[in-house]
Amino acid sequence: MIKINEHYTEIGNNYLFAEVARRVREYKAAHPDKNVISLGIGDVTQPIVPAVIEAINKATAEMSKAETLRGYAPDFGYDFLVQAILKHDFLERGVQLKTSEIFVSDGAKSDTGNIGDILGKDNYIAITDPAYPVYVDTNKMAGREIELLPCTPENDFVPSFPKKTADVIYLCYPNNPTGTVLSKDQLKKWVDYALEHKSLILFDAAYEAFISQPNVPHSIYEIDGAKKCAIEFRSFSKTAGFTGMRCGYTVVPEELTTLTSKGEVISLNAMWKRRQSTKFNGTAYIVQRGAEAVYTPEGQKQIHEVIAYYKENARIIKEEIESLGITVYGGINAPYIWVKTPNNLTSWEFFDLVLNEAQIVGTPGSGFGTAGEGFFRFTAFGNRENTIEAVSRLKKLFSK
Ligand code: MLT
Repeated sequence: MIKINEHYTEIGNNYLFAEVARRVREYKAAHPDKNVISLGIGDVTQPIVPAVIEAINKATAEMSKAETLRGYAPDFGYDFLVQAILKHDFLERGVQLKTSEIFVSDGAKSDTGNIGDILGKDNYIAITDPAYPVYVDTNKMAGREIELLPCTPENDFVPSFPKKTADVIYLCYPNNPTGTVLSKDQLKKWVDYALEHKSLILFDAAYEAFISQPNVPHSIYEIDGAKKCAIEFRSFSKTAGFTGMRCGYTVVPEELTTLTSKGEVISLNAMWKRRQSTKFNGTAYIVQRGAEAVYTPEGQKQIHEVIAYYKENARIIKEEIESLGITVYGGINAPYIWVKTPNNLTSWEFFDLVLNEAQIVGTPGSGFGTAGEGFFRFTAFGNRENTIEAVSRLKKLFSK
């Protein structure tokens, strides 16, 4: 008889964004004449920039000739991309890393989910609440015990240390979904905690390109000691519009070690290498050439224009909703706007209200965790026209 992983029965039938998509499909089927605007899942709308497209086209042409054909990609990424990442994302910020510490992948969602493969079932996990659902769901799938760390206006969205010592801590900054950040000093406290308790920080920096304010760390390795206690996840999805292309990378420093149950020192870098080379067959050459082009001077200029476009959307959403007297967080260092639902509506009540009355889709805060109840997330990744139309519909709805 088939024995299943029973933990799957504990996590609900649908992944958050699949559930939102299901409800929207139903609404559209019942109201085919309505123009629904999605500011829900953080999916990009602006085209991939010309420098990247040019590189992809060139790489595609190489695939058409036997002399330049590339077969299996290296499991951990082509050197040309790893070198570009090291130089631009780290060296230029004063962070020294080695090529052997960078693992190119098909995105941060897979990596933040797969990292659990190298972690024992008996780790005590701390996760900020609300959070990107992958962290909680994948740990529940593995049957690990989780402590949620509420991040609310009452604590300025700064998580307190767990009640029980955590072995593994998930931090995502700039934060999805609240759009809030930690300062260097605040992040340092977590690095110090992890060093003191020999914990591991899983730091998701997928939104670092949206940081506008100084003193907000782009990488956890800007904090002394972090290489001994942290793994960092990065993504080209939001930085360069790669949600459909799939490319990201994970940094696993060689200094990051722990002990086996027999007391032997073991390197997490070596374990991740072993995991990736066994279960992952590399990111497509064409995609990696596209990612490399993100770091050229033209690529940088072009992606920053697109990021500025999304940031302007964020400003518009934030300011227009605030003008209704509704409290809003985030939207300055992140592409997410975290709205306190008016009139004590629950997150899903607000979802239904804005979908039914204004044909706007957002993401219910409670879908990101208990502490997200009573909040609602809008993304800044829409196109400008839809963003302006969406806020004008919201204004009509809430000034009634
Ligand atoms: C989000 O909307 O939270 C993200 O786009 C989801 C993801 O990156 O997988």
